Amino acid sequence: MKIISNVEELRNELKSLQKEKGADVKADVKVGLVPTMGALHKGHLSLIEKCRSENEIAVVSIFVNPTQFGPNEDYDKYPRTLEADSKLCEKAGVDIVFAPSPRDIYDEYYFTHKETTLICPPYDVVNKLCGKTRPGHFDGVCTIVGKLFNITKCDRAYFGKKDAQQLFIIKKMVRELNFDIEITGCPIVREEDGLAMSSRNTYLTENARKKALNISRGLYKAKELHKKGVKEADTLTDTALAYMEGLDVEYAEIVSVDTFEKIDIIEKDPKSKESTAIMLVAAKVNSENSTVRLIDNIDL
Ligand code: PAJ
Repeated sequence: MKIISNVEELRNELKSLQKEKGADVKADVKVGLVPTMGALHKGHLSLIEKCRSENEIAVVSIFVNPTQFGPNEDYDKYPRTLEADSKLCEKAGVDIVFAPSPRDIYDEYYFTHKETTLICPPYDVVNKLCGKTRPGHFDGVCTIVGKLFNITKCDRAYFGKKDAQQLFIIKKMVRELNFDIEITGCPIVREEDGLAMSSRNTYLTENARKKALNISRGLYKAKELHKKGVKEADTLTDTALAYMEGLDVEYAEIVSVDTFEKIDIIEKDPKSKESTAIMLVAAKVNSENSTVRLIDNIDL
């Protein structure tokens, strides 16, 4: 496994790996990409394993992307654990870890002017749910993901359903900008007690973690109620919210899986097992002297 920070070096390595592996399989050599910000956990590893199993070349990018963090967010304190992350990637059979610095990724202009060319999805999709309190966040996400697609020229890319709005927006970007890349959404990986795995869980004290657990508990309760026949979104969100006392809930909403627009009544074709709606929550938990923002969701 190679750990590479420079874009040109990455492109050269990909070319030689493609030649090498192409000779072996005498077939089209597919490149799979798993974009991450590091501090890897089992959630990331599930994406990496899927990528490894479906592609001849598996690339994991590790980059804490400055353009997706707001001025008062945790960019500086975000966990950076490249050594441990690389070991996990090596064990998972990754071919290349791409771990650039901001200067490897962004042009000099960005550092002098604090601006760069951005990919900006439509206002209505980026300025609700997470985007409401994180203006510019999804522009930063799409910009870095678009850049990583261009840098790696990947055929497939893997994202977690944990960041459901991000996955929805990336699929939309790929469709609307004609990226010739297959996007796969992977299931949320949880701790045994139900807490969705997140790099930010490392910020939680024991007490804060206990409170955080009420997010997934509330979501599961709402799903249970929906299974019993409750279709009204308000009743379901109120049920979930009742579990989340002591948390500063930013939003708890039910949206359509297809459009990500808010729905009031969950209608489903009785013959279909497919979920048509998804409940999403973002909440802040006090942990020592800081607050930790967590997100989670469940298909209904
Ligand atoms: P990061 O938070 O590191 O997550 C990288 C990928 O791992 C995302 O697709 C995310 O949805 C997935 N993931 C995180 N926790 C998961 C869990 N518990 N189960 C399943 N998948 C999980 O998301 C980002 O980084 C960035 O925004 C990025 C896309 C890399 C752009 O900078």
